[in-house]
Amino acid sequence: MQTASSILVIDDEPVLQDVLSTLLGNEGFEVYSAMTAAQGLTVLAEEDIDVVLLDLMLPDRNGLDLLPEITNLAPDLPVIVITAHSSVESAIQAMREGAYHYVPKPFKNEVVLHLVRRAAERRQLERENRLLRSRLDGVGEIVGTSRRIEEVFELIRRAAPARSNILVTGESGTGKELAARAIHRLSPRREGPFVPVHTSAIPTDLLESTLFGHVKGAFTGAVASRKGLFEAASEGTLFLDEVGTITPETQTKLLRVIQEREIRRVGGVESFPVDVRIVTATNIDLLEAVHQGRFREDLYYRLNVISIEMPPLRERPEDIPTLATHFLHIYAEENQRQVSEFTPEVMDLLTDYAWPGNVRELENAVERAVVLSQGNQIGPETLPRAVRSDPDRPRISDSLPPGGLDFRKAVADFQAHLIRRALERSDGVQRKAARLLKLSPTTFNEMVHRLGLSDRRRS
Ligand SMILES: Nc1ncnc2c1ncn2[C@@H]1O[C@H](COP(=O)(O)OP(=O)(O)OP(=O)(O)O)[C@@H](O)[C@H]1O
Ligand SMILES: [Mg+2]
Repeated sequence: MQTASSILVIDDEPVLQDVLSTLLGNEGFEVYSAMTAAQGLTVLAEEDIDVVLLDLMLPDRNGLDLLPEITNLAPDLPVIVITAHSSVESAIQAMREGAYHYVPKPFKNEVVLHLVRRAAERRQLERENRLLRSRLDGVGEIVGTSRRIEEVFELIRRAAPARSNILVTGESGTGKELAARAIHRLSPRREGPFVPVHTSAIPTDLLESTLFGHVKGAFTGAVASRKGLFEAASEGTLFLDEVGTITPETQTKLLRVIQEREIRRVGGVESFPVDVRIVTATNIDLLEAVHQGRFREDLYYRLNVISIEMPPLRERPEDIPTLATHFLHIYAEENQRQVSEFTPEVMDLLTDYAWPGNVRELENAVERAVVLSQGNQIGPETLPRAVRSDPDRPRISDSLPPGGLDFRKAVADFQAHLIRRALERSDGVQRKAARLLKLSPTTFNEMVHRLGLSDRRRS
């Protein structure tokens, strides 16, 4: 079903608001207006916006600072920046921060219309693609074939259909949000909304009204009553990201909502029922926070009915080539590059690196490599220095360094490297690892001990 695209105009000039509303309204777009940055963020949290027109000069905030917040709230949302003619600098800065395009003031109506139409079309296409993908494959965009990630898929498939709350844990960049989206798509709530809340990005004093809404006059500035994200997620899934950062007071209110399945808007007296499934994510050890008295134990158990742990990339290096190739295709297409493969050396470097920032870091490295590459292969010079010079990686070269080297140590380093890699590929099962190196299990075991590698995890 094709619905009208909705456009949010964030600009404090009434005349400009007027012109744009008429212009875009006549084209069949649904137009929302916000006079301040704060209003803009509220509309974004409550409505399903397809394109944002953002003035960089706002009374309460600089539009440039707002941009990353918008992208945080709604990744992939095209933002068209309106700038005074004189400030090309800020336009460029905005493009760098991820703006979709910019228009200098004064602008021609056709120019704005053209940009908005194109952005809205792209948004619509992305939406259809996403829907299509989610129908094709339940776990959607989560790429990987390792045993560890297969276990995650299996858990998601089994847990998704229930209403039970789910806690997703894992280091930064391991795909927690991706998992939360997959849970939603595989649940009976898939036609309902998926509402992500990046709790740490919302000022503490606004979090409660953002979550639960507020009534008119609840606090200074509450000029009208507003619904909160719980209501917005009704019959869908609410994704509470970085749940470990919320204050004790808000924890208490959250617990009440979960227990009673009812919410009360800030400043309100009546409660009404909400039907929301909650998926939370954290990259801190929440149980540790419970032990330190920073997180309510009863809330912890309510949120953690089922827990899903996203494994770090270094514990599933088999996924690195698949993921790297996946991102290569995405960024080659996005940047219209002909590049189609990594040189074998690059693939080795990628697989050997420990990726402290996990999949996000890998994704960034590949994007960068695609942009920097010339020709159709990605060479090692395009990789970030850290990846090129992993201290864990032995330097293997057929030329002897001018100062000579320690033969025994060089050979032992190389042996240790191969053994570590074989162990990683075999999930620590020595028998399998030995087979990969065509060694007998006894010889393999003896080498593991001699080289001091009995702990299968490196670093
Ligand atoms: N298995 C995967 N397949 C494809 N893309 C992935 C996978 N895991 C993560 N990504 C990509 O890596 C990036 C980070 O993922 P995501 O935002 O879900 O991580 P996160 O665990 O929520 O990170 P943080 O803790 O920093 O919020 C995203 O661009 C996501 O699309
Ligand atoms: Mg996240």
